Amino acid sequence: MTTTFDVINPATEQVVETVRPTSAEETDEAIARAHAALPAWRAVPPGERAGLLRAFGDAVRADREHLAALEVANSGHTIGNARWEAGNVADVLHYYAAAPERLFGRQIPVPGGVDITFAEPLGVVGVIVPWNFPMPIAGWGFAPALAAGNTVLLKPAELTPLTALRLAELARDAGLPGDVFQVLPGKGSVVGQRFVANPAVRKIVFTGSTEVGRQIMAGCAPQVKRVTLELGGKNANIVFADADLERAAASAPYGVFDNAGQDCCARSRILVQRSVFDRFLELLEPAVRGVVVGDPADERTEMGPLISAAHRASVAAYVPDDAPVAFRGSTPSGPGFWFPPTVLLPASAADRTVVEEIFGPVVTVQAFEDEADAVRMANDTDYGLSGSIWTRDVGRALRVARAVEAGNLSVNSHSSVRYWTPFGGVKQSGLGRELGPDALAAFTETKNVFLATED
Ligand code: TAP
Repeated sequence: MTTTFDVINPATEQVVETVRPTSAEETDEAIARAHAALPAWRAVPPGERAGLLRAFGDAVRADREHLAALEVANSGHTIGNARWEAGNVADVLHYYAAAPERLFGRQIPVPGGVDITFAEPLGVVGVIVPWNFPMPIAGWGFAPALAAGNTVLLKPAELTPLTALRLAELARDAGLPGDVFQVLPGKGSVVGQRFVANPAVRKIVFTGSTEVGRQIMAGCAPQVKRVTLELGGKNANIVFADADLERAAASAPYGVFDNAGQDCCARSRILVQRSVFDRFLELLEPAVRGVVVGDPADERTEMGPLISAAHRASVAAYVPDDAPVAFRGSTPSGPGFWFPPTVLLPASAADRTVVEEIFGPVVTVQAFEDEADAVRMANDTDYGLSGSIWTRDVGRALRVARAVEAGNLSVNSHSSVRYWTPFGGVKQSGLGRELGPDALAAFTETKNVFLATED
């Protein structure tokens, strides 16, 4: 039996819409349709496939305000962020729309004939998306997958299906055949599980928790099904004594509290050289208190609510009454799943606030002695997704960037994502890379063909 699911606005706790989740049987039927659509999609001439992706990108850009408003209502994202997220989907579609005519193989010199390689599509690709960035994370999977000639099934998170459903409509309006790109709202344990178990799905692109990522990898192993995994993070923001402390402190809240800290790239561990520790905290306090938390639809708002009551309870459990709180920001009163920006000074590196991904607006600040100590502390985690390094010493910036075990580092900045540069994690933060010029390789297999030329 399939019951409906109420989509809740996390800023108001009101029902936005009711969605019918896809059943296991319906998922298998959709997989069969995606499989049947493969030959025709592969046969679309490269220039035409590129044109369809550009038309899809144009449709997304034309619908940006509508998509952004849907994300504000469904996910509580600030309107500024939501506009960027919709624009990112359009950008990623346009970027990979340049791929179909450029999926070159190679000609390799061999004796007795000609050797050529082809970049063949994998087949049906299942993209499983979390609730924290419903639009961009979907686009990072489906755009290169479609460009490479695969058909795609997209499962949004149960909590945040609305923008994904709208993207399916836009794709259809742009002329993509319906079975080439299908959006299946529903539960991970139902729809996602069928993607893993059904052998007609040849690859899973999963973004979400490390725990579920491990299960998916194990579930794919019997079929040697391809996986790309983008998982959790516990990223360090390393501030050296020679840094521009004012800039480092002013930007630190935005490096962790953006999207209410529900960001795998959140710099949730601030590491500060001991000689400037007190000064940094003095500068950090007004910056944290100044974060504008409130109605996400208001243009001035910098941080909205958490996604759900259950998630707020999970975040709050990290900040009990006797927690070592240094200072906190504010939240609106009334309905909504609010949680204030919170700065902790943990007594020990073993504290769970230092070790575990909280996925909320909670940051720890710890002191380090020297460069070696900073690198050791930054790497003292099972994760390795992103991180920031603040220093005026270029040599140190490069040494530390090379030494920190993470996929995406930024120096004197907190930026992690540009659609034309690679993104992904090391250690338990993931497997494979998305975005950038190499992502297409994750959606193709190299086929080698030898043609004998001798009689
Ligand atoms: P998860 O609980 O792992 O859920 C992610 C997605 O997987 C959802 O669509 C979920 O469906 C589905 N799912 C759950 N169990 C499944 C199963 N057994 N088989 C197949 N699919 C299953 O993560 P979350 O709480 O939504 O997202 C937060 C996590 O994502 C954080 O750890 C965060 O760091 C990580 N994240 C990582 C990145 C990158 S790029 N590395 C980016 C964003 C987020 P339901 O909706 O039904 O639960």
